[in-house]
Amino acid sequence: MVLVVGFIGIQFVPVNLNQSNTVPKEDIILFYNAPKEIAGLLKNSCYDCHSNNTNYQWFNKIKPIYWLMEEHIIDGIEELNFNEFASYSKRRQKSKIKSIISQIKDDEMPLDQYTLMHRSAILSDQDKIVITNWMETLRDSL
Ligand code: HEC
Repeated sequence: MVLVVGFIGIQFVPVNLNQSNTVPKEDIILFYNAPKEIAGLLKNSCYDCHSNNTNYQWFNKIKPIYWLMEEHIIDGIEELNFNEFASYSKRRQKSKIKSIISQIKDDEMPLDQYTLMHRSAILSDQDKIVITNWMETLRDSL
């Protein structure tokens, strides 16, 4: 009973959704003219935690799941914000790309905790090759 009341009660704690209607011109997809396929993969698998605009699913808004997601978003954006990517120094962009490639190759990203519920965000081997190839080309052009 206490748990049920508690569960209902926490649903009224105000939330601060990570949402924005504008995409800055420094966004990696816009700035570097990413092909549709790359844009789709990044938005679908990474942007929920690495941009200013999370595409919340209904269950993401239920607490305490919401708080877990919020924590991932805050920590994710702090490390890497794709919306601001082109505003980073060239040196930082290159080091982030290096990290992106290794995180994808090692299956560290997207986070397991996230793909458990967001199955469509899982990258296939082919997706991984497509993203890492594009990232390598971008890195070499910087
Ligand atoms: C569920 C949220 C979430 C998703 C989705 C997600 N990330 Fe992350 N990412 C994080 C968090 C949290 C961190 C920081 C803590 C850590 O490394 O685990 C992070 C860290 C990183 C870092 C490390 C940055 C650095 O400077 O070392 C890279 C690179 C990265 N993510 C790339 C990606 C890519 C590429 C995708 C999509 C394929 C992705 N992430 C999807 C949450 C997420």
